[in-house]
Amino acid sequence: MTVQNPQKYHIVTFGCQMNKADSERMAGVLEDMGYHSTEESEEADLILYNTCSIRDNAEQKVYSYLGRQAKRKRDNPNLTLVVAGCVAQQEGEALLRRVPELDLVMGPQHVNRLGHLLEQVFNGNQVAATEEAYIEEDITTPRRNSSVAAWVNIIYGCNENCTYCIVPSVRGREQSRTPESIRQEIEKLAAQGYKEITLLGQNIDAYGRDLPAGGIGAGVGGKITFTDLLYYVHDIEGIDRIRYATSHPRYFSSRLIKACAELPKICEHFHIPFQSGDNDILKAMARGYTHERYRRIIEDIREIMPDAAITADAIVAFPGETEEQFERTVQLVNDIGFDLVNTAAYSPRPGTPAAVWDDQLSETVKSDRLQRLNHVVNQNAAERSQRYAGRIEEIMIEGTNHKNPLQIMGRTRTNRIAFTENTTGQSLAELIGKTISIKITEVRPFSLTGVIC
Ligand code: SAH
Ligand code: SF4
Ligand code: F3S
Repeated sequence: MTVQNPQKYHIVTFGCQMNKADSERMAGVLEDMGYHSTEESEEADLILYNTCSIRDNAEQKVYSYLGRQAKRKRDNPNLTLVVAGCVAQQEGEALLRRVPELDLVMGPQHVNRLGHLLEQVFNGNQVAATEEAYIEEDITTPRRNSSVAAWVNIIYGCNENCTYCIVPSVRGREQSRTPESIRQEIEKLAAQGYKEITLLGQNIDAYGRDLPAGGIGAGVGGKITFTDLLYYVHDIEGIDRIRYATSHPRYFSSRLIKACAELPKICEHFHIPFQSGDNDILKAMARGYTHERYRRIIEDIREIMPDAAITADAIVAFPGETEEQFERTVQLVNDIGFDLVNTAAYSPRPGTPAAVWDDQLSETVKSDRLQRLNHVVNQNAAERSQRYAGRIEEIMIEGTNHKNPLQIMGRTRTNRIAFTENTTGQSLAELIGKTISIKITEVRPFSLTGVIC
């Protein structure tokens, strides 16, 4: 289906990289239909919110946006309002009842079907598409936000049962894409000039478990693993850097460390959430590992790649967490010395086991612990940044420094943002996607400044 008159769409994306990747695919579908993108929601004919439900505040943000647009729709019935993503999946038809101005509510498994769903909307229906679905191979070309770095989904969904987490119920069971289709997508990206890819999965180490044994890339008679996949896609010409997220400590393998050390395009960055430094809390979270196992993983990585960046996620004030248990999380952060930790206070999510436990902690305890942990995280990041002082680093140029347009911006292989004056004599357009060496002259906790060597 194509739209007749010039029509504009506006997408707002909340949440994680999965949602960002999904938004790019949905933008691709809309552009195939003849829509043009606009930065101004006020001039859009179709507004799509791609929502996140990981914590209550993420969910509430969507309702405040929706309220405004619903009001606008009452004056302009031609406006099409779509809610996609994890809140859409969680709420389903209830969302249509809560905001009757909505035209379409669609879960993450329906992203590639946006065109068909809109067709039903334009035939006069209010549509909710949230049934569990097999994710079709990409039928459209995503409209990507960057011309250098691209996301590539390799596994959808999550089969874990972390007791705090909404993701399995909104993203469904694991579905691995075939190695052939992943490789094809990366080859296409390389042909379009992309230089960096990030392979995505909620639990990337689960890749391949649901595929049949004996396929391409797998060991003899076995099933392909994530590590096998890295070897299988590594040689694609034109791609200079390969990243991936997210690793799960329960399934993390030493073969993966070896592959990362061996394969030159794989960046020296490990994102491995630990969630808590206390074994009883980890057990209550149903994470399936101990803090000792987590520490061993990091030791193993550092033995082979001492300079690798290590980042993680952590939750404070999980139900029943005592002060001592919280301090074990602080201790773990201090012992490891992370480059970055994404921290969050526990937020009860509908339908998850921990949400109904009776030992919930108060908002005061939550914000106090969050603040204390953040302080330690920032200290660690500042210390870890020091190792870059005076060093020569390769950065891949992505754009300009928003705060100082005279500087260009790129990232180190370890994912630190770095700025430098452009003394190359080349324009930004010429430099984008190129890797240059800079000598680091200034370090801050989460970014660096340098001069081109
Ligand atoms: N699949 C990844 C993380 C997905 S969600 C993993 O297993 O690590 C991203 C992060 O959000 C999680 O790592 C966790 O730290 C946080 N998170 C998830 N559910 C949460 C909740 N109910 N309250 C607070 N933080 C939560
Ligand atoms: Fe959520 Fe756990 Fe799955 Fe991560 S592994 S998405 S935290 S259930
Ligand atoms: Fe949020 Fe859904 Fe991602 S809940 S963190 S957008 S998987």
